[in-house]
Amino acid sequence: MLQAKYSEWFKEHKSQLWPMDGYKFIDRGGIYAGIRGVHNPGKEGYRYDVLHPRSGLPCTEPLMGYRFPKETMDQLLADGRIIFGDDHTKLIELKAYAHEYQEKLSSVIEIDGRSGAYDVRELFPEYRTAFENPKPVKFLQRFIPLLLKNQGDIYLDFFAGSASSAHAVMDLGAKDGVSRRFILVQIPERCNEKSDPFKKGVTSISELSKERIRRAGKKIKQDNAGKPDIANLDIGFRVLKIDSSNMKEVYYTPDAVTQEALPGLVDNIRADRSAEDLLFQVLLDWGVDLALPISQQSIAGKTVFFVDGNALAACFETGIAEDFVKQLAAHKPLRVVFRDSGFISDSVKINVEQVFKLLSPATEIKTL
Ligand SMILES: C[S@@+](CC[C@H](N)C(=O)[O-])C[C@H]1O[C@@H](n2cnc3c(N)ncnc32)[C@H](O)[C@@H]1O
Repeated sequence: MLQAKYSEWFKEHKSQLWPMDGYKFIDRGGIYAGIRGVHNPGKEGYRYDVLHPRSGLPCTEPLMGYRFPKETMDQLLADGRIIFGDDHTKLIELKAYAHEYQEKLSSVIEIDGRSGAYDVRELFPEYRTAFENPKPVKFLQRFIPLLLKNQGDIYLDFFAGSASSAHAVMDLGAKDGVSRRFILVQIPERCNEKSDPFKKGVTSISELSKERIRRAGKKIKQDNAGKPDIANLDIGFRVLKIDSSNMKEVYYTPDAVTQEALPGLVDNIRADRSAEDLLFQVLLDWGVDLALPISQQSIAGKTVFFVDGNALAACFETGIAEDFVKQLAAHKPLRVVFRDSGFISDSVKINVEQVFKLLSPATEIKTL
């Protein structure tokens, strides 16, 4: 039964199994092939009888005898590792299991190993070599459809390098209409100082990765300009950098706080952080998708970020007065976030809840 099922599968896939296309048998030990491994190559080997299990007659001996002494053969027989032919006139063979296979398996994917470099050269004609050993886009595209079949599926690449994966994802989207996404991670590694990009002022690999995504996106749109839904292909991307917390480290013991230091403690946000830095902290805190559309609006002279339409409104400016709060509440955002020290007075800050309760009761309010 097991052999019959396996033979069926084997027949169907044999053409793709080289060099394992000799492994057409199966038993409880696994898939195996019969090999001439017991025959002694070249010089004279061991000579003794191996009796055929059906006829009890000695099997035909290999030309130069056996490779192993009789004790070893007896052990192989006892372990069921010897394959007998239909009768004693056939040479015996050794059972070689596929899981013991040691030879180097050649790749089942035939792709010119240089095509990765060609992909990059096509986008960066100004460089002879922009990046060492970039993965070929075609190679990555052999796997992506097998794993990422649905709209919005995410390709996560922890070792971005020249961003071949982003190129492959976008290009495939143009081909099969599945709009997948990518998250690439690249440490701030410097380009090789002998490399063309470095000589032309591109010092970090992540700069190269970003530029490749830009150029690849543009080229994919151009190359597929005739396609009906190419306009919907999203080639946009955001770049975020891991950094220390936006919040000041305020570990003071009571005796360490002086009267003079107090004003500096009012604002707990590091001075060198931008409104965008604070916005992405809030998105992370609230577990909001970092790739959602973000727009900016000026309300009462204050810059307000709107994430995914009205899902979140964020203003990190100072000098926040009640009038501004009312105008913002009128937008009825699902969530709103302010800078904790951004209000012109404590009463305005306290009144925020009341204003929203009145104008947009469903809004979740947060300060940073
Ligand atoms: C072999 S390259 C990747 C090549 C990439 N697949 C391509 O096709 O261009 C590995 C990359 O991973 C980066 N890297 C190494 N360690 C890393 C880490 N811990 N986190 C993020 N990136 C890392 C290296 O800077 C290098 O750019």
